[in-house]
Amino acid sequence: MESQPRIRIRIRLPGLFLFALFWALGIAGAQAQAQTTPKLDVPYVPTPKNIVNRMLDLAKVGKNDVLYDLGCGDGRIVITAAKDRGATGVGIDLNPVRIEEAKANAKTAGVESQVEFMVGDLFKADVSKATVVTLYLLPEVNRKIRPMLWKQLKVGTRVVSHDFDMGAEWPPEREERIGGKTLYYWTITPAQKAAGNSTKS
Ligand SMILES: C[S@@+](CC[C@H](N)C(=O)[O-])C[C@H]1O[C@@H](n2cnc3c(N)ncnc32)[C@H](O)[C@@H]1O
Repeated sequence: MESQPRIRIRIRLPGLFLFALFWALGIAGAQAQAQTTPKLDVPYVPTPKNIVNRMLDLAKVGKNDVLYDLGCGDGRIVITAAKDRGATGVGIDLNPVRIEEAKANAKTAGVESQVEFMVGDLFKADVSKATVVTLYLLPEVNRKIRPMLWKQLKVGTRVVSHDFDMGAEWPPEREERIGGKTLYYWTITPAQKAAGNSTKS
């Protein structure tokens, strides 16, 4: 028996059309990404684990502490404080991707009940409940949040910053070099509190 000839219909999309299609999809993707990724004041660079431990040592973090990490990234400082030292803590980051990671990491570490992670702008944060604040930001960002820390934090609250100081107006009580990094430590004194209370914002 004679086999039937196969009819093959080929739809040829002109190359130019395909190029335009991918280009348009690319633009739409980039626009969508720009809409979902907020403009960050500090890029994401995680603190190495040994530095996290040293920051917590410097602040003598214990089970009665409430630790706030401003720009918390994947939550490692808050989670380590909760898991290893029994503290409670709050992590705030402008990037929702980081906050999702932090929440997943808290779950894996089994400290979900001790910690809270929220998407937010560190410049608008309420840190008044903190007994310890940790920072790994940038020099100009530290200087910008200094009045806010003085105003909101209670006398005796400890502040530890990875790599960046707070400017000449607030010299650290302790400064420590560790593996090419510098850690800075302050406590809120009545003098800072008074200065913070006299600022407008
Ligand atoms: C250098 S990373 C430090 C991450 C974490 N604290 C650590 O030490 O591993 C700085 C973080 O700040 C966040 N960030 C940048 N601008 C911010 C803002 N305005 N408000 C809150 N978080 C911000 C970034 O998304 C990033 O995760």
